[in-house]
Amino acid sequence: MCGIFGYSGSKNASEKILEGLKRLEYRGYDSWGIAVLASEIKVNKQVGAIGDINQLDNLPKSNIGLGHTRWATHGGITQINAHPHFSSNKSFALAQNGIVENYVFLKQDLIKKGYKFQTETDTEVIVRLVEDKLKGEKQLKDAVRKAFLELEGRNTIIILTKDNQLIAARNGSPLVVGVNNNEIFYSSDTLSFAPFVTKVLVVDNGQMVTSKDGELKLWDIKSGKKLAYQLENIDFQSSKVEKQGYDHFMLKEIMESPYVIRQVINQPDNVAFINKLKKARVYTIGSGTAGLAADQIAFYLRNFGKVFAQSLIGADVYDYYNLLSKKDLIIAPSQSGETADVLEVLEMAHKIGVKIASYVNMPGSTMTRISDYKFASLAGPEICVMSTKIFTSQIAWGYLMAKKVKGKGEEGIKNLKILADQVEKYLNTKANHDLLKKLAKMLAQADDIFLLGKYQNLNIVKEGMVKIIEGSYIHAHGIPAGDLKHYAITLIEKGVPVIAVLSEDIEKDDVINAVNEVEARGATVVGFSPTPHHKFDYYIPVPDSGETSAIMNIIPLQILAYYMAVDLGHNVDKPRNIAKSVTVK
Ligand code: BG6
Repeated sequence: MCGIFGYSGSKNASEKILEGLKRLEYRGYDSWGIAVLASEIKVNKQVGAIGDINQLDNLPKSNIGLGHTRWATHGGITQINAHPHFSSNKSFALAQNGIVENYVFLKQDLIKKGYKFQTETDTEVIVRLVEDKLKGEKQLKDAVRKAFLELEGRNTIIILTKDNQLIAARNGSPLVVGVNNNEIFYSSDTLSFAPFVTKVLVVDNGQMVTSKDGELKLWDIKSGKKLAYQLENIDFQSSKVEKQGYDHFMLKEIMESPYVIRQVINQPDNVAFINKLKKARVYTIGSGTAGLAADQIAFYLRNFGKVFAQSLIGADVYDYYNLLSKKDLIIAPSQSGETADVLEVLEMAHKIGVKIASYVNMPGSTMTRISDYKFASLAGPEICVMSTKIFTSQIAWGYLMAKKVKGKGEEGIKNLKILADQVEKYLNTKANHDLLKKLAKMLAQADDIFLLGKYQNLNIVKEGMVKIIEGSYIHAHGIPAGDLKHYAITLIEKGVPVIAVLSEDIEKDDVINAVNEVEARGATVVGFSPTPHHKFDYYIPVPDSGETSAIMNIIPLQILAYYMAVDLGHNVDKPRNIAKSVTVK
């Protein structure tokens, strides 16, 4: 998944595009590129993180252009594979976000027709295909339509033409257009142009937008028919995209956890959704951290809501397709609302009449648009690629919905209010950070780290594992405490660090049993718990939050992962090889 950006207006395009790309960089940071039009189209593309304006000296002043930030899927991380890509006669330049699943077949056909290829990318195949269609079309936009219809997979493309046009087409990967007087912005998400626009157009699948001389048009790709469109207001506080004095967005966003829990408490009631929860067979679904949030939501619905709820991993659902029915409800927690693996399932389920509920952070997302029950976490932008406050928001929301199913909404709100105060106090206590910093220094030297938890803390240790892997690139393994003795205990030997996460709940003793088993084999035991234990070599005191104890427990694990990444000198907000929103399968 990548980020695409386009601009036309009165300002210097390369500057506006560079600013937009910087706000999109969390979508991929392998390479980047900008194309602008003066007397001809000029391109500047580089490998690595997005640079600054000085790197654009070779780009002429211009009022129109496009940009791209890349997360490599096809072809190595090289300057030639960086986007945008030129047509053979340089009459247009194209950038893409997505994967052309049938690109090998299309490329072979184009090679037979004599087209030459300079890169290993699937993107260049789209460029040559458009050139080929242009032989039978008067207008470039129609050649783009015809070519786009032959692409399989989730793709969005943007094109800058020599005759001063921007053209963009969508099938799957997100595409939004921002408008402000005579300025038009194209992008993969609203966050990137929010400070500059007042109105947006969210382009749907199978639609294409063109703009020339400030005039924006919307088209149906299949028929070529012109479509009417409605611009929506966008309410965005750009200040929330600054670090506000923190060294990294990750710490800033963890420190916002009390605020996001209070945002959950302030959510308007949705009686229809609660009633559906009571009757339906419920599936929860997500990818990565959101997948673990989905599993924790299912845990809360079973544990406190007494609802049959099963979690699904976004990327692996095929065997459930034949089981889904109109009686079912699928709940999708998602930061971006654009994760392709999950969207693919929701789009299929929607077609067969399954009810969809989504809990999304980014405004105007595709997931929100196809949902029957639309929830917004209202937690403010999450810029760090490692999700922290949004995970906390997603599981706190799941807990409250489960309490509401059993008519204990008030009790749930009271517990979350206490939790928000406890988290605030914990985060603002320097001694807690000092303790975690010291522990982080030790764990940052480890080759392998194991995390043990059970019942309400199983997904918490798995998310702790994810944060350590994402930030420190150290192999970590979150294990159901009771399952340890069946396999993973073979990996435990002298000095191997094992983090045990406990709550004052019915399964505490079982976790202590597992602690004894690893301690007996020489492990270095780190206990995250409301109460100390003599088998802990390192003890991290965590407030006892009763039913919401698991939500409290993720906070010190997120901070630990942060200090480990800092201690290792890693790019905390943009860890290697991952990106914030995965819009490709
Ligand atoms: C990954 C992110 O790319 O996608 C994770 O790095 C995230 O943090 C996962 O949980 C799912 O994304 P989303 O937007 O659906 O929450």
